[in-house]
Amino acid sequence: MEILKTEGLKKYYGNMNQKGPEKAPLVKALDGVDLSVENGEFVAVVGTSGSGKSTLLHMMGGLDRPTEGRVEVAGKDIFSLMDDELTIFRRRKIGFIFQSYNLVPVLNVYENIALPVELDGQRPDGEYMDRIIKTLGLEEKIHNLPNQLSGGQQQRVAIARALLSKPAIILADEPTGNLDSKTSQDVMGFLKVTSDKFRQTIVMITHNEEIAQMADRIVRIEDGKLVANKERRQ
Ligand SMILES: Nc1ncnc2c1ncn2[C@@H]1O[C@H](COP(=O)(O)OP(=O)(O)OP(=O)(O)O)[C@@H](O)[C@H]1O
Ligand SMILES: [Mg+2]
Repeated sequence: MEILKTEGLKKYYGNMNQKGPEKAPLVKALDGVDLSVENGEFVAVVGTSGSGKSTLLHMMGGLDRPTEGRVEVAGKDIFSLMDDELTIFRRRKIGFIFQSYNLVPVLNVYENIALPVELDGQRPDGEYMDRIIKTLGLEEKIHNLPNQLSGGQQQRVAIARALLSKPAIILADEPTGNLDSKTSQDVMGFLKVTSDKFRQTIVMITHNEEIAQMADRIVRIEDGKLVANKERRQ
């Protein structure tokens, strides 16, 4: 089953209507991206700096609206939603993992993991939460604050947090970008386990080819366009 689809997705930056020396040049950050992701798939999007990776992730996650084109998540055309509806949809259906972890410094590990679900007015599924915490090896750390954790541990908390709401899709932008290569491999291992054990769909952005090899499929982006999709590996 297809869980995510982009159709003719374009994002242009710069104001063409502006006159004079201040006129910003037009940047075609995304220039017609068609991507389809199956439920449970772990896809890596690779490309050089400035190729449009983060822009693609922002569009897929409904963090910003495209110039043209569609994004469907779990069968929903997300840009047909009004901003406040989109905020709720995003909270429930999309998990984000960023390079900088984005944990709340005054909350402990347990509270950080539970936060998005609680903000949505729900009570976290305790059993599922325990399973996630165990799978990510965070049992000993649940009472610690983020600044008492290593980078790799902080990113594992961010993975746990993204998983808890059972989102349709997790979007990760350079999740290992702040980590050394050994820790990057560890965190990737946890992402992989997450995708296998919880059948969690993940789209991960990276410029690191070695890291990308751990995904089921690699998609390449150049100048805002996808180039030759590699065959899905078994
Ligand atoms: N808000 C913005 N306004 C104008 N141009 C932008 C904006 N955001 C991104 N761009 C431009 O769009 C292009 C794609 O940027 P994007 O951030 O998607 O690249 P990236 O592949 O994520 O790069 P990196 O690997 O360095 O993170 C770049 O040329 C960038 O300068
Ligand atoms: Mg980027």
